[in-house]
Amino acid sequence: MADSTDIWSVESNDAVHISLVTPNKTLHTFHPKFTYSIFGEEESIFGYQGLKINVKYHASDMRPLLQITYNKKFPAVGTTEPTDLKPILEAYLPKTAFEKQSIFEAAISDTSNSNWTPPGELWKTIQSGSKTFEVWKGSLADLAVQQMLKRIQILVSFFIEAGTPLDLRETEEALKRWTVFFLYQKTTEATAGTSSPYTFMGYSTVYRYFMYQPPTPPVSPATTKKEPVQSASRDDFKFPAPEDNAPELQFSSHPCRSRISQFVILPPFQKGGNGSRFYNAIFDNFLADPKTIEITVEDPNEAFDDLRDLNDLARLRLNPTFAALRINTKVSLKAKGPVPRDIIDTEALEKIRTKFKIAPRQFARVVEMQLLSLIP
Ligand code: ACO
Repeated sequence: MADSTDIWSVESNDAVHISLVTPNKTLHTFHPKFTYSIFGEEESIFGYQGLKINVKYHASDMRPLLQITYNKKFPAVGTTEPTDLKPILEAYLPKTAFEKQSIFEAAISDTSNSNWTPPGELWKTIQSGSKTFEVWKGSLADLAVQQMLKRIQILVSFFIEAGTPLDLRETEEALKRWTVFFLYQKTTEATAGTSSPYTFMGYSTVYRYFMYQPPTPPVSPATTKKEPVQSASRDDFKFPAPEDNAPELQFSSHPCRSRISQFVILPPFQKGGNGSRFYNAIFDNFLADPKTIEITVEDPNEAFDDLRDLNDLARLRLNPTFAALRINTKVSLKAKGPVPRDIIDTEALEKIRTKFKIAPRQFARVVEMQLLSLIP
């Protein structure tokens, strides 16, 4: 006989169904990759048979609706009770997600807001064949951006391992350090009955670290404060700690490292070049930003490493000096002991690196990829 906990337990990744909907159509439905941070390490929910947790999103403005349905609920016996799902999910979704389906449907069918555009400002339009994509960006201090983030932050828990939602209760000064990018597909005409031509595909958050330059004269060590430890990544090297009394701590006028913190393309849009388009658009934004000295990535996973390597390499290959990079085989074949420094022109490379704002370790990796690709 089956253990009674088995028949009353469901795998939470299977139970959760995420959909992108328009007033008259479900465009896509998919499951999360991870739910352990929400439902526990086992990724299992106790107390239901036929459980379905529907997180339905209006495909453009990402207003969510949460529906929990099941065939049978475990009758509470003593201390054994079914998992109380609503309070668990309340921490991850805005209050409006808990309204009735009829209210949600009426709201998304309301065509009076047909001029809706994504939050922030339009940064880039990308044409690929017959498809048009738009990248929008805004500061996290912008209320419209915050509202959007409250709706979609659960996606970080669903798709990025160890990803955690941002804390929106920070001070305005702290929120201003974050830029949020949104990737949308835009259809020229709104699909029949749809109030918007925009379909949400993914988003990314980027944090600015200022690069501290010591004031003159230097302050005494007794007044220095340690920089908080950031999570490790291949880009990690620490800039000196900020000084309490340094006059140029005004973040807005400071040279920065801009670090991609969270980056998600929804499953229906993966493996179609959308991650690359989005990454390059974000990269272009910070290349054009005079305050950004380096573009880095926080804790990239293997898939993001691949995406970044390929796109950084493609970008650098457009630079004639980089493309002409060769190993001086005569020198390298004769070399005994350590490889001579003049095997490649390190000075020219450093100029390219700083021009493209790529962090040293990532740059070294891409240079290596380029040199290896030249070996017959
Ligand atoms: N047809 C088929 N394959 C294609 C096409 C196409 N038209 N275009 C690109 N591809 C291939 C690429 O060559 C690449 O192949 P590879 O995996 O063998 O290298 C692959 O598809 C992925 O490239 P893109 O399509 O440009 O990227 P994608 O849109 O799939 O995005 C990403 C990749 C961001 C990792 C996405 O899968 C995702 O969001 N995953 C979930 C969340 C996540 O892991 N985020 C990164 C966490 S790290 C961080 O946040 C800093």
